[in-house]
Amino acid sequence: LTDVGILHMVVYIPRTAVSQADLERYDNISSGKYTIGLGQSHMSFVSDREDVISLALTAVSQLVRHAAISYADIGRLEVGTETILDKSKSIKTTLMRLFARSGNCEVEGLDNTNACYGATAALFNTIAWCESSAWDGRYAVVVAADISVYEPGPARPTGGAGAVAMLIGRTPSAPIRFEIGLRATCMGDTYDFFKPRVANEYPTVRGQQTVDTFVLAMDECYRRYSTRAKSPHVHQFNARRDVDYCVFHAPFNKMVQKSFARLVYNDFLKTPPGEDPFYEPVEQYRNLSPETSHRNRDAQRAFVKLTKDFYDQKCAPAAWLAKKVGNCYTASLYSSLAALICEKGNDLLNKRILLYSFGSGFAASMFSIRVTAPVDDVFLGTDLKERLEDRIIAPVDEYIRTLKEREVNYGRFGYLPKANTEDLFPGTWYLCEVGPDGERSYDQV
Ligand code: ACO
Repeated sequence: LTDVGILHMVVYIPRTAVSQADLERYDNISSGKYTIGLGQSHMSFVSDREDVISLALTAVSQLVRHAAISYADIGRLEVGTETILDKSKSIKTTLMRLFARSGNCEVEGLDNTNACYGATAALFNTIAWCESSAWDGRYAVVVAADISVYEPGPARPTGGAGAVAMLIGRTPSAPIRFEIGLRATCMGDTYDFFKPRVANEYPTVRGQQTVDTFVLAMDECYRRYSTRAKSPHVHQFNARRDVDYCVFHAPFNKMVQKSFARLVYNDFLKTPPGEDPFYEPVEQYRNLSPETSHRNRDAQRAFVKLTKDFYDQKCAPAAWLAKKVGNCYTASLYSSLAALICEKGNDLLNKRILLYSFGSGFAASMFSIRVTAPVDDVFLGTDLKERLEDRIIAPVDEYIRTLKEREVNYGRFGYLPKANTEDLFPGTWYLCEVGPDGERSYDQV
């Protein structure tokens, strides 16, 4: 274990959300497609008062306040996002306004962008800084923030919005620590999900291709990770036995269920026929090609069924939040980790947590962490479940109107947002104005 670890986390969930069951009715599609088929119950959305910068301002300011540290104690701040609001000025530089009063301008780190992977790039940079000769003894912060919105169509219910900020430190008392050498990466060149349109907030998404890329990159990461994690005493790494909890990037919950099932499928392929009776119900799928088996719905369903109890035990404690919030892109994986900490608390002591990060285009990594000390005060701020209870579940009409307004006003200069700020949670930062040259100004509720 490295002595670099996560000391504290906060998650910011926007106040407004829409119900997926309401959305099914509005879209006039078969009942259950979004709620059971995709596995989502609600989707967060934001008005023109919030953008990724305001989300990041909210998360970082809450982290610093709740952790009771000074901005002067932070030597590195890295941002993960896939939402570009300015082609030159980084979000990080806007966050520096938070540091002004402390007089601290010596803060390394900038923005990291590649679809949903940016936060992982930010985290890896931060770990490297903490371990390097450049480390000056101070804390580091990683913040991930995204707003996920899609054009009307099958991808639209897989939107969401949110932010997460993590305080990283180098100390043997860090409660959540990264396992040395247990990291595997797979990157390549695909056009499965991308944002080539500068005048439009929506991505170009090739649904099936993005799901395929997610799975095949995970296969490769898991193959490498499990080889590295194999202990001299263990014949073969096995997710059911050697991993206590799994946290996946969560575009939608069904993808998380399928991801865990896919790890077990990988373990199955490595196990000689008849050696483990657990695999008996899926033995018929042994001869499928691993490159195409993820498209075989019968095989997928059989593995999801086979692994249901393990999913409930190892994945559901992290996956519940994203079901209610949706895909927050870069913030998805790490807000799910926060959800796991909230759900399991000190039951996580001495446990191994496996994480899988994926960003289309594509960049993917699998790595693991260990909980080595009590985590009572890792998650800071309002309890996540309480916060969800306090949300406004808006009618679908309002959600559609909000997205239309965002479409019309996207990229406009000399713009004053219209939505009121009273509905925002206390402490939330919001957009006041986009100036005549595109400069953005912010304030806090
Ligand atoms: N009741 C229950 N289940 C239903 C119902 C119903 N009435 N109707 C459909 N379903 C099930 C389907 O059987 C399917 O389940 P399965 O996959 O277990 O077989 C599921 O609902 C989805 O139905 P599809 O027809 O496959 O969905 P569709 O093709 O319309 O869209 C998709 C799904 C491709 C994921 C789309 O939402 C999308 O493009 N999303 C954005 C991209 C994305 O999230 N990519 C993932 C990784 S990258 C990233 O994070 C951006």
